Amino acid sequence: MTKWIDHTYDVVVVGAGGSGLRATLGAAQAGLKTACVSKVFPTRSHTVAAQGGIAASLGNMGPDDWRWHMYDTVKGSDWLGDQDSIEYLCREAPKAVYELEHWGMPFSRNEDGKIYQRPFGGHTTEFGEGPPVQRTCAAADRTGHAMLHTLYGQSLRNEAEFFIEYFALDLIMEDGVCRGITAWKLDDGTLHRFRAQKVILATGGYGRVFFSATSAHTCTGDGNAMVLRAGLPLQDMEFIQFHPTGIYGAGCLITEGARGEGGYLTNSEGERFMERYAPSVKDLAPRDMVSRAMVMEIREGRGVGKDKDHIFLHLDHLDPKVLAARLPGISETAKIFSGVDVTREPIPVLPTCHYNMGGIQTNYHGEVLTKKGKDPDAIVPGLMAVGEAACVSVHGANRLGSNSLIDLVVFGRAAGMRCGETIKANAEQKPLSKDAGQSSLDRLEKFKAASGSKKTSEIRLSLQKAMQEHCAVFRTEESMEEGVDKVTAIAESIKDVVVYDKTMVWNTDLMEALELDNLICQAMVTMASANNRKESRGAHAHEDYVDRDDKKWMKHTLAWYDADKNKVKINYRPVHQHTMTDGIDYIKPKKRVY
Ligand code: FUM
Repeated sequence: MTKWIDHTYDVVVVGAGGSGLRATLGAAQAGLKTACVSKVFPTRSHTVAAQGGIAASLGNMGPDDWRWHMYDTVKGSDWLGDQDSIEYLCREAPKAVYELEHWGMPFSRNEDGKIYQRPFGGHTTEFGEGPPVQRTCAAADRTGHAMLHTLYGQSLRNEAEFFIEYFALDLIMEDGVCRGITAWKLDDGTLHRFRAQKVILATGGYGRVFFSATSAHTCTGDGNAMVLRAGLPLQDMEFIQFHPTGIYGAGCLITEGARGEGGYLTNSEGERFMERYAPSVKDLAPRDMVSRAMVMEIREGRGVGKDKDHIFLHLDHLDPKVLAARLPGISETAKIFSGVDVTREPIPVLPTCHYNMGGIQTNYHGEVLTKKGKDPDAIVPGLMAVGEAACVSVHGANRLGSNSLIDLVVFGRAAGMRCGETIKANAEQKPLSKDAGQSSLDRLEKFKAASGSKKTSEIRLSLQKAMQEHCAVFRTEESMEEGVDKVTAIAESIKDVVVYDKTMVWNTDLMEALELDNLICQAMVTMASANNRKESRGAHAHEDYVDRDDKKWMKHTLAWYDADKNKVKINYRPVHQHTMTDGIDYIKPKKRVY
């Protein structure tokens, strides 16, 4: 019989990226006994790779207003974002950034000694009528790195406890209430149950379901998969962001901040083609639009390189001093991964999977919601989610650059505060049921015993290629139907996986199989959600339904996955369209042009 090692906390946070650390810190500051469980060392979480910055209307470089930020975010989301959440994000953003500054985050500075802010795509003034704004607060092009170190230090200072290199397996759900999680400690093979009054999932995105992604190999959406296994839905999974400037061939990120500092894209004719697609903001159009424009140029034969299959990003006209001060990281990345000296040559780039707008449905306190009977927004007691794992939904169908780091800290902070408001430190928790965690043990045993004919890496590669081909920047009915069939067959094929290593200590073979299992259920709901949405909105560019259709489709997708039947169930819920009590009124939909 397996011997669990049991722990009890007020709050257990799963994941130690920007949102996980901010939630951990907030809960610890509220006097709650808080644990943070992470599969990697906290400062190696994927937030460390965030480059260009964090959006907040500080107005350090010119006039700005949180209401303009809100307008831009709603428009950027192609009117799929929930406006109550977007209002909260943009109002609270300056506070969340000043907190980071006061905790010692080493922001770059402008000449007045204030936090330096750069332009990013889709961020404007005067409710979209004015010129672009410099709203993105930056620590050179290493903003995520600076943020993670700041938050980890502060969490330790507030006596949060860290469980590092623990791989979270499942939620412990009893009578519809989340009571904790199970986890596997990778370095000694022990199995752990964490009981808590609140579990906060902050497990990030699942970018590694694609062949070419800016995401770390660890980005397998483990929390999303835990939610699906618990019989809860994921929301808006069809909306995948492709970042325009991944390095061709390698996929590494070249920050949008490069265009913010004056960089521009050209095709094989040397033309700055974004002038045709987005005449007012050009290279600083939102990402969905820039990515589509790049693919159109390539399709029409104006790609660069011997196969005419990518685009050039120019920084070679910029002052080398600016490159050294503002973009040192990507100058080095370009040298290493494409052999380019950015002061002399353009960088070869291609749209690359970067971000998941969809995830676990929450309200703006971070509480997880689900559809129950007629209520589309019923709270799941005990369970919260923040960051890229969550879908709050502030990004809707397309996220604006630098709105992800602010999402992490605003909603991480909100979740910590919500814990402080709703639970009492050290309140007694009833014992877990006798069989709590049994399904995790069964799943582990199944994979340990797996002795089929297919390697994990083989199945993973076919999954990544299928998603890359059938859930791409442009989508068609025929291609998505094919994608659904392919991914369903791949999901079946995991029954034939082989796991060679049968031990529990540092068994990366087993861990990769479990991560693949997590990726598969997310691919299933992503493909099905995409195939079901018969319109074009934000990042979902459907070539058979080229227009946005607000009458039929201004609604959020909810998708459940039944692993036994290998089937997805889809339902929808309305977008929140409330009227502000103060500030600005509901922002009515209109054509999204820049
Ligand atoms: O381009 C970037 O620096 C990425 C930022 C973001 O995804 O928000």
